Amino acid sequence: MSIRVIHDLEEFRAACEDVRRGGRLGLVPTMGALHRGHLRLVERARELADVVAVTIFVNPTQFGANEDLDRYPRDLEGDVAKVESAGARLVFAPSVSAMYPPGERTRVRVSGLTQALCGESRPTHFEGVTTIVTKLFSVAGPCTAVFGRKDYQQLKVIQRMTQDLLLPVQVVGERTVREGDGLALSSRNAYLSAEQRESALGIARGLSRAVRAHHRGERSVGVLVDMVESSLREAGLEQDYVTLTDADTIAPLSTKESCADRALLAVAAKCGQTRLIDNVVLGEDPAPIAEEA
Ligand code: PAJ
Repeated sequence: MSIRVIHDLEEFRAACEDVRRGGRLGLVPTMGALHRGHLRLVERARELADVVAVTIFVNPTQFGANEDLDRYPRDLEGDVAKVESAGARLVFAPSVSAMYPPGERTRVRVSGLTQALCGESRPTHFEGVTTIVTKLFSVAGPCTAVFGRKDYQQLKVIQRMTQDLLLPVQVVGERTVREGDGLALSSRNAYLSAEQRESALGIARGLSRAVRAHHRGERSVGVLVDMVESSLREAGLEQDYVTLTDADTIAPLSTKESCADRALLAVAAKCGQTRLIDNVVLGEDPAPIAEEA
């Protein structure tokens, strides 16, 4: 059966209802400009559900005033072809006015979890994410929704929100998909020049050094963070944060503490004008770069 591309909200709601009458619906929310990372989520959703719907919506409320909303890459036609080949059966690409009806006044906000890491430099970002994801869950009513661990904090915030609002959705996290050289796939990589693309690898290099050190028994937060910070500096990247946290609560650890056998190491850095994020769960994820050259 070929893929159905729906722009109208009520039509999508009805299509999802139809699916749920005969089986499980899996949802993969995205902002488009799709790459293999997104397609991995579609494949995972196919394993968990009978029919997969992908939403493509560049959500204005999660962008700050000086961020890249206007130049965010868009390619609906290309995206539809990609998700069709990955096995999705529905695409929902709504307008801004459908998702934010005139006069709208409502935001969904998760406290605490949204303050550290990306919340520090993007104070209203997660509120935009949780608001749109709640709306998408409400329209589609999925049994399962798949999100990437590339946006680890986002995944944790959405899991918390789903539990707190008693939403009947299973929220599943999927491993980060990387280029052969270790760079995490991101729609924003499209902004990078060849030279910047090379510098961006400093993030994966730093994380890889820390993974190997942690594997050898290093538990000093200060030492592990410093390894990543110096890799960013060597690559000429402008650090936003390098933070080790509890892997479950994402509560940041101080550089004077020791970390557990399992801990999140999260990075955000600017490469030119482009803000990139990446992370590994130490004690769980492999090094993004297998062996250092
Ligand atoms: P977007 O950046 O398009 O990402 C959509 C989904 O793809 C997210 O769950 C993200 O974690 C996942 N993803 C991105 N790069 C990945 C990679 N390299 N490997 C695995 N998964 C990856 O995240 C958003 O959109 C938005 O905030 C959204 C949740 C759609 C709400 O607007």
